[in-house]
Amino acid sequence: MPQLINFAHRGASAVCPENTMAAFEKSLELGATGIETDVQMTKDGRLVLIHDETLKRTAGAEGFVKDYTYEELSKLDAGGWFGEAFQGERIPLLEELLELTQSRGTIVNIELKNSSVPYPGLEEKVIEAVNQFKMGDRIVISSFNHYSLLHCKRVDSEIRTGILYMEGLYEPWEYAKRIQADALHAYKKAVLPEWVAEAQRNGVVYHPFTVNDENEMKSLIEAGVAGIITDYPDVLSGLLQTK
Ligand code: G3P
Ligand code: CA
Repeated sequence: MPQLINFAHRGASAVCPENTMAAFEKSLELGATGIETDVQMTKDGRLVLIHDETLKRTAGAEGFVKDYTYEELSKLDAGGWFGEAFQGERIPLLEELLELTQSRGTIVNIELKNSSVPYPGLEEKVIEAVNQFKMGDRIVISSFNHYSLLHCKRVDSEIRTGILYMEGLYEPWEYAKRIQADALHAYKKAVLPEWVAEAQRNGVVYHPFTVNDENEMKSLIEAGVAGIITDYPDVLSGLLQTK
């Protein structure tokens, strides 16, 4: 059985400012074998890694990511809100994360943040970047926007996709087949342990989020999920080593 993927949620976001190069680099030091991140698009069409559609919380500026050029965003401090030691961290480009992970074998989960703000052309641009880095076989594109996931498959039938959902999907592998998805990025409480093997028999794997409690991690490992998305890759790594 392949080793469970230890996805660091927004990088090592428990100890570093989320979605910064510091957080991504630290997560690899802490034993992550995968990195989860959030992608949006600037006014001039660049792919930037940031969770909120607005800048206030993590970059201290007014308004929406979509209304800034990359040059404008690159001047913002995306680390100071977390702690003085991180002042000067920038909002990274997707390309910077792909460059960091390309030679390390890391799996990258790119979440398209296109549910409330539409980003026409986001799917094409993300897939183009992934293919430029020849990382198609190490990427999972996820989104709460399931139309967008189907669109990804139309752009590139080889790209893997993961359905983000909070609750209540009945026999989710059947839905996954309908939209040609490969993985279930389920909220942790929406994972029925008895369905994990059945999903796998149907060619669909579970990557639940965001699992920070050690006992919850243990139960999901026991259930046979293929990956876990966590703010604490060090804790998950420790558990996987004792197995
Ligand atoms: O990909 C799992 C998780 O990141 C989805 O929720 O809000 O943390 O992006 P959020
Ligand atoms: Ca996310």
